[in-house]
Amino acid sequence: MIGIIGAMPQEINQLVDMMEDRKVLEKARMKFISGKLLGKDVVIVKSGVGKVNAAVCTQILADSYSVDAVINTGVAGSLENRIDIGDIVVSTDAVQHDVEATIWGYEPGEIPMMKKKAFAADKALRKLTVSVCREVNPDISVFEGRIASGDQFISGQEQKERIAETFSAYCAEMEGCAIAQAAWLNGIPFVIIRAISDKADNSAEMDYNEFEKQAIEHTVKLLLALIPRM
Ligand code: ADE
Repeated sequence: MIGIIGAMPQEINQLVDMMEDRKVLEKARMKFISGKLLGKDVVIVKSGVGKVNAAVCTQILADSYSVDAVINTGVAGSLENRIDIGDIVVSTDAVQHDVEATIWGYEPGEIPMMKKKAFAADKALRKLTVSVCREVNPDISVFEGRIASGDQFISGQEQKERIAETFSAYCAEMEGCAIAQAAWLNGIPFVIIRAISDKADNSAEMDYNEFEKQAIEHTVKLLLALIPRM
């Protein structure tokens, strides 16, 4: 069983519409929709925005469905000039840019007493994701890199530069690393797939609605080609 998490309805609705033999489980105010997608057993869920929602959601996928893998799909703000709106970032690993205990000698993003800062995506799964993406989305660029998550929508140059420089991250979003950490705690392979909807600077608000739809088209296309090959 493959778990697919999107924070917002528009990130998963098209996939849910294509599922067969749908069953719904409501838990923690979330609807877990299980069934077949292109012949594969999947469970698709809208987690809601932010790290707490995403972590709770992932734990339920582990406990109630014993998922073999978790895919997080959605949009993100680009932290690098070369990564454009519409392009896709596939996670090598994920960090939390809002974890900060440096006063105790920890690195930025390092979770105290866990000796852990970055959570690595499954290598085979991310390599497969990148190659499928190149095949089905030839008009955009796909990047493999670090994803920075935090409970903040990044929309200022200073904020953007701090995250990009401190963490060498390619894009910023609000769930990926919470899913990564919860998956890691449960020993479940994961990958985060994010299409760029904005540049995470003072143009972010303006760009967002206009480009979100276009960005999501690319992730949906990718997932529909990826799932049958997993
Ligand atoms: N999701 C999409 N764009 C984002 C941004 N700029 N910051 C955080 N999450 C996002």
